[in-house]
Amino acid sequence: MNSPGSLCFLGRTVCLTMTLGWAFSTDLHKVQARCNDTITLPCSLTENTSDYRYAVWYKLNFTRLEGIVRKSRNGPIQPYDYRREARLGDSEALVLPWVQPEDSGEYQCMLGADIGKQNQFLNILLNVSECVATSAPTFAPVIMATNSNCVFDGSYMELSPARILSGFSVLGLVKAMLCLLSIWVFLKFKKTHSM
Ligand SMILES: *[C@@H]1O[C@H](CO)[C@@H](O)[C@H](O)[C@H]1NC(C)=O
Ligand SMILES: *[C@@H]1O[C@H](CO)[C@@H](O)[C@H](O)[C@H]1NC(C)=O
Ligand SMILES: *[C@@H]1O[C@H](CO)[C@@H](O)[C@H](O)[C@H]1NC(C)=O
Ligand SMILES: *[C@@H]1O[C@H](CO)[C@@H](O)[C@H](O)[C@H]1NC(C)=O
Repeated sequence: MNSPGSLCFLGRTVCLTMTLGWAFSTDLHKVQARCNDTITLPCSLTENTSDYRYAVWYKLNFTRLEGIVRKSRNGPIQPYDYRREARLGDSEALVLPWVQPEDSGEYQCMLGADIGKQNQFLNILLNVSECVATSAPTFAPVIMATNSNCVFDGSYMELSPARILSGFSVLGLVKAMLCLLSIWVFLKFKKTHSM
């Protein structure tokens, strides 16, 4: 999910009116990512970004553009005070490590043009899937614990096959001992009465 090749070109044309007062029309590219992926959002799909004076990445928060990182063509990378780690990759691509569902939303890369040329914008809609727990074993005890009939001791906490087998063998042992005990009682009873 972290290569430009995984981009879905389901672009739809959007017109967003920014609080700054300017409007633009461009394609909205969709990127699907999984929880914890490290993703790379390309700044430009076709243009040669070195033709531009600077590149700025924004995240759209309702109608407000929050700066993430800025880079001049031959200058240093200037990170904004963005709420999560972000860095610039090759060709001014935005690299977001360990994406979370809250990173979903619309991102914009703006390429600031030389004097007399037009700035370019690329909008990307990022969708990060929910972080579903991968550790299944904690599931069974929770269900058992809510069923009061099953709570007779702590053994339900570890219902592994080995545990179940040993549980059966303990039960078998108890049964065998009860059997021997009843035979012993019977014999003893018989003995005292025959005396
Ligand atoms: C982009 O432009 C620069 C200089 O204008 C050139 O050196 C470079 O090879 C170009 N890159 C691509 C991928 O076209
Ligand atoms: C979006 O903006 C609002 C107000 O401007 C702010 O309170 C909120 O924290 C922002 N959301 C994110 C995810 O940064
Ligand atoms: C985001 O991804 C999830 C999980 O793959 C999917 O169910 C959901 O429809 C997607 N949302 C959008 C807006 O594409
Ligand atoms: C995401 O990473 C965290 C921390 O390493 C981990 O606890 C969690 O299970 C991971 N989630 C997924 C869905 O991979």
